[in-house]
Amino acid sequence: MTEHVTHVTHPLVQHKLSLMRKTDTSTGEFRQLLREISQLLAYEITRELPMTTKRIDTPLEAMDAPALAGKKLALVSILRAGNGLLDGILELIPSARVGFVGLYRNEETLEPVEYYFKVPTELSERLVIAVDPMLATGNSSVAAIQKLKDAGATNIRFMCLLAAPEGIARMKEAHPDVPIVTAAIDSHLNENGYIVPGLGDAGDRMFGTK
Ligand code: URA
Repeated sequence: MTEHVTHVTHPLVQHKLSLMRKTDTSTGEFRQLLREISQLLAYEITRELPMTTKRIDTPLEAMDAPALAGKKLALVSILRAGNGLLDGILELIPSARVGFVGLYRNEETLEPVEYYFKVPTELSERLVIAVDPMLATGNSSVAAIQKLKDAGATNIRFMCLLAAPEGIARMKEAHPDVPIVTAAIDSHLNENGYIVPGLGDAGDRMFGTK
Protein backbone atom coordinates (compact mmCIF):
# COMPACT_ATOMS: atom_id res chain seq x y z
CA MET A 1 0.00 0.00 0.00
CA THR A 2 1.46 3.37 -0.92
CA GLU A 3 -0.72 5.67 1.21
CA HIS A 4 -0.16 5.78 4.95
CA VAL A 5 -3.90 6.09 5.53
CA THR A 6 -6.58 4.60 3.30
CA HIS A 7 -10.05 5.93 4.06
CA VAL A 8 -12.59 3.48 2.68
CA THR A 9 -15.47 5.62 1.45
CA HIS A 10 -17.49 2.84 -0.17
CA PRO A 11 -21.23 3.57 0.25
CA LEU A 12 -21.94 0.24 1.97
CA VAL A 13 -19.20 0.87 4.53
CA GLN A 14 -20.39 4.40 5.22
CA HIS A 15 -24.06 3.40 5.53
CA LYS A 16 -23.31 0.54 7.89
CA LEU A 17 -20.99 2.73 9.96
CA SER A 18 -23.71 5.35 10.39
CA LEU A 19 -26.01 2.63 11.72
CA MET A 20 -23.30 1.54 14.16
CA ARG A 21 -22.88 5.07 15.46
CA LYS A 22 -26.56 5.44 16.43
CA THR A 23 -27.21 5.25 20.17
CA ASP A 24 -30.27 3.02 19.70
CA THR A 25 -28.50 0.35 17.64
CA SER A 26 -28.70 -2.90 19.63
CA THR A 27 -25.73 -5.05 20.65
CA GLY A 28 -26.72 -7.73 18.14
CA GLU A 29 -27.08 -5.26 15.28
CA PHE A 30 -23.80 -3.57 16.23
CA ARG A 31 -21.92 -6.88 16.16
CA GLN A 32 -23.44 -7.91 12.85
CA LEU A 33 -22.64 -4.53 11.25
CA LEU A 34 -19.06 -4.69 12.52
CA ARG A 35 -18.69 -8.15 11.04
CA GLU A 36 -19.99 -6.92 7.67
CA ILE A 37 -17.78 -3.82 7.62
CA SER A 38 -14.73 -5.85 8.62
CA GLN A 39 -15.16 -7.93 5.49
CA LEU A 40 -15.40 -4.85 3.30
CA LEU A 41 -12.27 -3.40 4.92
CA ALA A 42 -10.52 -6.76 4.53
CA TYR A 43 -11.28 -6.57 0.81
CA GLU A 44 -9.37 -3.28 0.72
CA ILE A 45 -6.45 -4.26 2.95
CA THR A 46 -5.78 -7.49 1.00
CA ARG A 47 -6.12 -5.87 -2.41
CA GLU A 48 -2.43 -6.25 -3.28
CA LEU A 49 -1.87 -9.81 -2.08
CA PRO A 50 0.48 -11.52 -4.54
CA MET A 51 -1.17 -13.81 -7.07
CA THR A 52 -0.07 -16.83 -9.02
CA THR A 53 -1.88 -19.27 -11.29
CA LYS A 54 -2.79 -22.86 -10.65
CA ARG A 55 -3.59 -25.45 -13.28
CA ILE A 56 -7.16 -26.65 -12.71
CA ASP A 57 -9.76 -28.64 -14.62
CA THR A 58 -13.14 -27.09 -15.22
CA PRO A 59 -15.91 -29.35 -16.54
CA LEU A 60 -15.04 -28.05 -20.04
CA GLU A 61 -11.26 -27.83 -20.12
CA ALA A 62 -8.06 -27.19 -18.20
CA MET A 63 -7.03 -23.63 -17.44
CA ASP A 64 -4.42 -21.65 -15.53
CA ALA A 65 -6.64 -20.11 -12.87
CA PRO A 66 -5.70 -17.13 -10.66
CA ALA A 67 -4.93 -18.10 -7.08
CA LEU A 68 -3.37 -16.46 -4.04
CA ALA A 69 0.39 -16.99 -4.06
CA GLY A 70 0.24 -18.56 -0.63
CA LYS A 71 1.46 -15.44 1.13
CA LYS A 72 1.40 -16.29 4.79
CA LEU A 73 -1.08 -14.17 6.70
CA ALA A 74 -1.44 -13.48 10.37
CA LEU A 75 -4.41 -11.62 11.79
CA VAL A 76 -3.74 -10.07 15.17
CA SER A 77 -6.57 -8.85 17.37
CA ILE A 78 -5.80 -6.12 19.85
CA LEU A 79 -7.99 -7.20 22.77
CA ARG A 80 -10.73 -7.00 23.42
CA ALA A 81 -12.54 -4.92 20.80
CA GLY A 82 -10.29 -6.23 18.02
CA ASN A 83 -12.16 -9.52 18.22
CA GLY A 84 -15.20 -7.93 16.60
CA LEU A 85 -13.19 -7.13 13.47
CA LEU A 86 -11.35 -10.43 13.59
CA ASP A 87 -14.48 -12.60 13.37
CA GLY A 88 -15.61 -11.08 10.10
CA ILE A 89 -12.21 -11.28 8.44
CA LEU A 90 -11.85 -14.91 9.45
CA GLU A 91 -15.05 -15.73 7.58
CA LEU A 92 -13.39 -14.33 4.47
CA ILE A 93 -9.90 -15.80 5.09
CA PRO A 94 -10.57 -18.91 7.18
CA SER A 95 -7.03 -20.26 6.79
CA ALA A 96 -5.31 -17.20 8.30
CA ARG A 97 -3.30 -17.71 11.48
CA VAL A 98 -4.48 -15.64 14.43
CA GLY A 99 -2.71 -13.85 17.25
CA PHE A 100 -3.82 -11.78 20.22
CA VAL A 101 -2.27 -8.83 22.02
CA GLY A 102 -3.75 -7.71 25.32
CA LEU A 103 -2.76 -4.38 26.86
CA TYR A 104 -4.13 -2.37 29.73
CA ARG A 105 -3.33 1.15 30.78
CA ASN A 106 -1.36 1.68 33.99
CA GLU A 107 -3.41 4.45 35.60
CA GLU A 108 -0.34 5.96 37.28
CA THR A 109 2.08 6.04 34.38
CA LEU A 110 -0.68 5.99 31.71
CA GLU A 111 1.60 3.61 29.78
CA PRO A 112 0.16 0.49 28.13
CA VAL A 113 1.14 -2.72 29.97
CA GLU A 114 1.03 -6.10 28.25
CA TYR A 115 -1.08 -8.81 29.91
CA TYR A 116 -1.34 -11.26 27.01
CA PHE A 117 0.71 -11.92 23.91
CA LYS A 118 0.30 -14.95 21.71
CA VAL A 119 1.11 -14.81 18.02
CA PRO A 120 1.72 -17.32 15.21
CA THR A 121 5.23 -18.59 14.49
CA GLU A 122 7.32 -17.27 11.58
CA LEU A 123 5.92 -13.77 12.03
CA SER A 124 8.77 -12.33 9.94
CA GLU A 125 7.52 -14.23 6.88
CA ARG A 126 3.91 -13.16 7.22
CA LEU A 127 1.79 -10.24 6.24
CA VAL A 128 0.48 -9.21 9.65
CA ILE A 129 -2.89 -7.45 9.81
CA ALA A 130 -3.42 -5.93 13.26
CA VAL A 131 -7.03 -5.02 14.05
CA ASP A 132 -8.61 -2.68 16.57
CA PRO A 133 -11.86 -0.84 15.81
CA MET A 134 -10.88 2.45 17.49
CA LEU A 135 -7.66 4.35 16.77
CA ALA A 136 -8.09 7.00 19.47
CA THR A 137 -4.92 8.27 21.22
CA GLY A 138 -2.98 5.58 19.37
CA ASN A 139 -1.14 4.57 22.58
CA SER A 140 -2.28 0.96 22.65
CA SER A 141 -2.04 0.46 18.88
CA VAL A 142 1.48 1.89 18.79
CA ALA A 143 2.50 -0.36 21.71
CA ALA A 144 0.84 -3.45 20.19
CA ILE A 145 2.58 -2.90 16.87
CA GLN A 146 5.90 -2.44 18.64
CA LYS A 147 5.35 -5.82 20.35
CA LEU A 148 4.69 -7.39 16.94
CA LYS A 149 7.88 -5.86 15.55
CA ASP A 150 9.81 -7.10 18.60
CA ALA A 151 8.45 -10.57 17.80
CA GLY A 152 9.86 -10.33 14.28
CA ALA A 153 7.06 -8.85 12.16
CA THR A 154 8.33 -6.63 9.34
CA ASN A 155 5.25 -6.35 7.13
CA ILE A 156 2.36 -5.00 9.18
CA ARG A 157 -0.92 -3.31 8.28
CA PHE A 158 -3.41 -1.83 10.70
CA MET A 159 -7.17 -1.98 10.27
CA CYS A 160 -9.63 0.08 12.25
CA LEU A 161 -13.19 1.30 12.00
CA LEU A 162 -12.80 4.84 13.30
CA ALA A 163 -9.64 6.90 13.58
CA ALA A 164 -9.03 10.21 15.35
CA PRO A 165 -6.53 12.59 13.74
CA GLU A 166 -4.48 12.39 16.97
CA GLY A 167 -4.19 8.60 16.67
CA ILE A 168 -3.24 8.74 13.02
CA ALA A 169 -0.50 11.28 13.77
CA ARG A 170 0.83 9.17 16.64
CA MET A 171 0.92 6.04 14.48
CA LYS A 172 2.58 7.88 11.62
CA GLU A 173 5.27 9.15 13.95
CA ALA A 174 5.93 5.81 15.66
CA HIS A 175 5.30 3.41 12.77
CA PRO A 176 5.48 5.22 9.42
CA ASP A 177 5.94 1.82 7.74
CA VAL A 178 2.52 0.55 8.86
CA PRO A 179 -0.32 1.49 6.50
CA ILE A 180 -3.70 2.18 8.13
CA VAL A 181 -7.06 1.25 6.61
CA THR A 182 -10.06 2.93 8.24
CA ALA A 183 -13.75 3.44 7.53
CA ALA A 184 -13.76 7.00 8.95
CA ILE A 185 -11.56 9.78 10.23
CA ASP A 186 -13.53 11.65 12.89
CA SER A 187 -13.15 15.15 14.27
CA HIS A 188 -11.13 14.85 17.49
CA LEU A 189 -10.71 13.18 20.89
CA ASN A 190 -12.60 14.48 23.90
CA GLU A 191 -11.03 15.00 27.34
CA ASN A 192 -11.67 11.33 28.21
CA GLY A 193 -9.96 10.04 25.11
CA TYR A 194 -13.18 9.18 23.27
CA ILE A 195 -13.44 9.73 19.53
CA VAL A 196 -15.93 12.49 18.62
CA PRO A 197 -18.52 12.07 17.17
CA GLY A 198 -17.49 8.41 17.33
CA LEU A 199 -19.75 5.63 18.50
CA GLY A 200 -18.95 5.38 22.21
CA ASP A 201 -17.04 2.46 23.72
CA ALA A 202 -16.71 -0.10 20.94
CA GLY A 203 -16.02 -3.01 23.32
CA ASP A 204 -19.03 -2.22 25.51
CA ARG A 205 -21.31 -1.81 22.52
CA MET A 206 -20.05 -5.01 20.93
CA PHE A 207 -20.26 -7.19 24.02
CA GLY A 208 -23.16 -5.49 25.82
CA THR A 209 -21.06 -4.55 28.85
CA LYS A 210 -20.89 -1.23 30.66
N1 URA B 1 -12.11 3.35 22.49
C1 URA B 1 -13.43 3.26 22.25
O1 URA B 1 -14.03 2.19 22.37
N2 URA B 1 -14.09 4.38 21.88
C2 URA B 1 -13.47 5.56 21.72
O2 URA B 1 -14.12 6.53 21.35
C3 URA B 1 -12.08 5.63 21.97
C4 URA B 1 -11.43 4.50 22.36
